[in-house]
Amino acid sequence: MNDMRLTERAVESQTTKITARGVQVYYADTHAIKDVDVDILDKTVTAFIGPSGCGKSTFLRCINRMNDSIPIARVEGDILIDGQDIYDRRVDPVQLRAKVGMVFQKPNPFPKSIYDNVAYGPKIHGLAQDKADLDGIVENALRRAALWEEAKDRLQSPGTGLSGGQQQRLCIARAVATSPEVLLMDEPCSALDPIATAQVEELIDDLRQNYSVVIVTHSMQQAARVSQKTAFFHLGNLVEYGETGKIFTSPEDPRTESYISGRIG
Ligand SMILES: Nc1ncnc2c1ncn2[C@@H]1O[C@H](COP(=O)(O)OP(=O)(O)OP(=O)(O)O)[C@@H](O)[C@H]1O
Ligand SMILES: [Mg+2]
Repeated sequence: MNDMRLTERAVESQTTKITARGVQVYYADTHAIKDVDVDILDKTVTAFIGPSGCGKSTFLRCINRMNDSIPIARVEGDILIDGQDIYDRRVDPVQLRAKVGMVFQKPNPFPKSIYDNVAYGPKIHGLAQDKADLDGIVENALRRAALWEEAKDRLQSPGTGLSGGQQQRLCIARAVATSPEVLLMDEPCSALDPIATAQVEELIDDLRQNYSVVIVTHSMQQAARVSQKTAFFHLGNLVEYGETGKIFTSPEDPRTESYISGRIG
């Protein structure tokens, strides 16, 4: 009985959320992502690691079409979420980004109040029935991002007036407020102190119960702490992808081995 439950859970947790096939990204003549195939799982944290400039942010941005806003960027190949082609002409990128939230390395709050930063997404997507409902969504998102205690008495103050680490947690609250199915995080902790980092890592682990989380990190320790799967990128190639424990202890490719042991990057 127990064994069967375990098997079922294992199968359930192996559901693919994001499928990439033959993905290429060019910035004018720079070939930044080279023929990447990957299946990213639901209810899993996936870490993207690799040396600076290898294409981690570029590939992450493909998953919610953020490269659309870079005029010289060209994306080829297929990216599917739940089997649906997100580059299909019928897909509205704004709707897509409610489902695929993103947190950037540099916190970028809107020039609005703390409350309105978080309420913005739920409002434009009609997720709240009324003001009380919206208040609840805002509070819940701020709690999940470990900012509620610091923000609850200043919800009407500008988001840009918060400290760097608080701004980052505000951006995380903003991203989770629309209950995304996928959360993309590009070095989300680089502006945070160790306490806030620990809180964000706890949040990531919590989000994993329901979502697919992809996190870019330069910290091997962080990748090892928060992720179950790791993808190692090098010069635009996805060199190796697998169980985080395996990637860090017995990688297959010498380039992965060099990187994790600190010889490149
Ligand atoms: N907006 C852009 N315009 C032109 N080239 C770009 C742009 N963004 C990235 N690139 C180039 O694409 C390649 C991959 O960059 P990317 O930012 O994806 O790397 P990264 O792995 O995220 O690096 P880092 O760890 O430093 O953040 C690099 O050669 C970079 O110079
Ligand atoms: Mg980057």
